[in-house]
Amino acid sequence: MLAVVPPPVTVRVPAKVNLHLAVGDVRPDGYHELVTVFQALSLTDEVTVAVADDPGVEVRGEGATAVPTDASNLAWRAVQALAERTGRDPYDPKVRVVIRKGIPVAGGMAGGSADAAATLIGLSALWKLDMTRDELAEVGARLGSDVPFALYGGTALGTGRGERLVPVLARHSFHWVIALDRRGLSTPDVFAELDRLRSDGDPPRVGAVEPVLEALASGDPRQLALLLGNDLQAAAVSLRPSLRRTLRAGVTAGALAGMISGSGPTCVFLCSDADAAVRVAAELSGAGVCRTVRVATGPVPGAKVVASEELP
Ligand code: C5P
Repeated sequence: MLAVVPPPVTVRVPAKVNLHLAVGDVRPDGYHELVTVFQALSLTDEVTVAVADDPGVEVRGEGATAVPTDASNLAWRAVQALAERTGRDPYDPKVRVVIRKGIPVAGGMAGGSADAAATLIGLSALWKLDMTRDELAEVGARLGSDVPFALYGGTALGTGRGERLVPVLARHSFHWVIALDRRGLSTPDVFAELDRLRSDGDPPRVGAVEPVLEALASGDPRQLALLLGNDLQAAAVSLRPSLRRTLRAGVTAGALAGMISGSGPTCVFLCSDADAAVRVAAELSGAGVCRTVRVATGPVPGAKVVASEELP
């Protein structure tokens, strides 16, 4: 009897923004202790996994050429980790992964982690694994600090390296404008720059997280705008001083507040409603301070299967 080949599985996965990012001390393992609030945004990648005799990763879309397609690709590492965990050969998993980028590459929006999360969800369907999202998150956390959040989506409080999550109540949708920079920034470089700034002086730190959680529960973007904060912002701006101008331009264009997303260099702007976001986006794209501009809403769900179909 012929073996039935399962159809390819396509998963959509969101980018994240950190509404609050408090960076603590460096731990013995080199990571920093974090207290962060993640929100998943409607800026997404699509990842298709398929059974194939020519295994590997292919990346399409904006910034694709900057993404490695060798064994260092986070999605490929997700394939290997899940193969290992489920007793398959991690060096010959007979799987092909096609990634279509919508999330900026090296932009501080967890695009690589998102692809790993999407791959875990896709393979779990393709291989008909009986694994819960929590079990997949355990595998994912070893690949990257932001992988578990990309699996759950929504709005969540993250601690540890950012991988320990509890859901947070967020009323209504928030409207964001996202300014993509011309080149990426390396996350380890930005954390190292923060350590350097802290050894030289005392850069300001974000406040307590509780008011942020209250603002999210109230659903009032004006209240939330006053509380957005990111300890990595000073480090990202120190490495890329032009970001100061981008941040200023968004607020001048009418955003309630602007901040660097994660380790940057992407800047995100919170707007009062959908119309304001469109106006801010139009003005910002005319200001010549960034490569391109997007609008997005949050929170949105985490990685989920959107189709079983032929490979594109
Ligand atoms: O976990 P992930 O691979 O995404 O982290 C990338 C890099 O960012 C780490 O190697 C580390 O340099 C830095 N990082 C950190 N503290 C965290 C998360 C990331 O120092 N909590």
